[in-house]
Amino acid sequence: MSKVFSGTVAPADGTLGVLCVGLGAVTTTFMAGVEHARRGSGAAIGSLSQMATIRLGRRTEGRSPLIKDFVPLAGLDHLVFGAWDPIPDDAYQSALTAGVLDKHEHVEPIADFLKGIRPMPAVFDQEYVKRLQGTNVKQAATKRELAEALRADIREFKAANGCDRLVMVWCASTEVFIAPAPVHQTLEAFERGMAENDKAIAPSMLYAWAAVMEGVPFANGAPNLCCDTGAICELAHQKGVAIGGKDFKTGQTMIKTVLSPMFKARMLGVAGWYSTNILGNRDGEVLDDPESFKTKEESKLGVLEYILQPKLHPELYGNLYHKVRINYYPPRGDNKEGWDNIDIFGWMGYPMQIKVDFLCRDSILAAPLVLDLALFFDLAQRAGLKGVQEWLSFYFKSPQTAPGLYPEHDLFIQQTKLKNTLRYLMGEEQITHLGMEYYEEEHESE
Ligand SMILES: NC(=O)c1ccc[n+]([C@@H]2O[C@H](COP(=O)([O-])OP(=O)(O)OC[C@H]3O[C@@H](n4cnc5c(N)ncnc54)[C@H](O)[C@@H]3O)[C@@H](O)[C@H]2O)c1
Repeated sequence: MSKVFSGTVAPADGTLGVLCVGLGAVTTTFMAGVEHARRGSGAAIGSLSQMATIRLGRRTEGRSPLIKDFVPLAGLDHLVFGAWDPIPDDAYQSALTAGVLDKHEHVEPIADFLKGIRPMPAVFDQEYVKRLQGTNVKQAATKRELAEALRADIREFKAANGCDRLVMVWCASTEVFIAPAPVHQTLEAFERGMAENDKAIAPSMLYAWAAVMEGVPFANGAPNLCCDTGAICELAHQKGVAIGGKDFKTGQTMIKTVLSPMFKARMLGVAGWYSTNILGNRDGEVLDDPESFKTKEESKLGVLEYILQPKLHPELYGNLYHKVRINYYPPRGDNKEGWDNIDIFGWMGYPMQIKVDFLCRDSILAAPLVLDLALFFDLAQRAGLKGVQEWLSFYFKSPQTAPGLYPEHDLFIQQTKLKNTLRYLMGEEQITHLGMEYYEEEHESE
């Protein structure tokens, strides 16, 4: 018997404000894509919330509505956008700089819309993103004051745009690696740390704190610690706010979390996995700094450990050599090339190799994730789900979980989790794939 949801999901009436931290390649590609979808000149390909269906009931029932017809989600026409960025360019100029979208086909026709999105001054400190310089930056004596200024921005944006609800997504640069410290562990320590300008409190944490204080759900698309701390989780529970992260799962890691479950399902061994990337956009430039790369590396390395479970299968995965590299290579711009060389072994230990060369487009893969996260986090908030939203780990390289719980990285387990959560919220039976009923009934009717 399925677990039954005891709450209710409030309707998605009115306007939803989507606040993006960072107005760079991913954010502008996301916003431009939504605008094109609204005008009928582009399709929201890659977005589950817009394109996927969900099976309900038995296979014989033939019920597979679109997700957006099954759960109450904000419609694209009801979204308005805001952003912060230390670089003062509007979304039009930023989209041109990013060079993801074709200027004549996809930027110029919506120039009026993009020029209307100007970044609010950011909470930014070069200490945490070494390769960037910004002029559109808030000034204050303490981190607490900076975070309060973000709260004021949130309230002003909401009032100025007539929003009924808001959601915030971190689409800004990857910050330097910060190890979890006592200042992150409790809300009390964190708030004291903000007042004392503790170095272990990065700008991303101030955005997360400000969002949750304002009752705004927060999703983190980069690998920074950000809302993955005891302090922000405590606050999220206190305020009844949905949070989650981290790091959009788009290219190489998405492939890794599809291939590695296959090796494990078939009990094939893996001796080594070498992943390298060339990337020429601003994100690539930021990640060229070893401290930002370390944050990314941690996020990318974890997945194999959890999926392959070397402790349970030491003879297959105990000596796996896993290496991840990102090389900044400007000629490619946003068109990343990700190579994977995988050394596997089979029956009696005979070696084999798999090579994957993914010529992808980073922001084209990330944009639909921003849309889905905005809509599903808003849904979670309307359903009263507070704290970490593990059911949305489908979208993250390094999913946040409850303390002590290991994350599920397998893309298809994550997808099942997501869809079962939607069924649960809407009072439908969860799908277990047991399927005995089809055969039991056959015999009963004989
Ligand atoms: N595109 C992908 O496939 C993908 C996948 C996973 C994660 N990500 C992450 O998403 C983020 C955005 O990627 P992108 O390609 O758009 O990068 P980008 O460099 O084009 O844009 C990031 C923007 O964030 C701004 N920024 C930096 N610090 C800020 C702060 N404190 N407040 C507000 N704005 C700030 C920068 O000025 C920049 O304009 C990166 O952290 C990246 O690692 C991207």
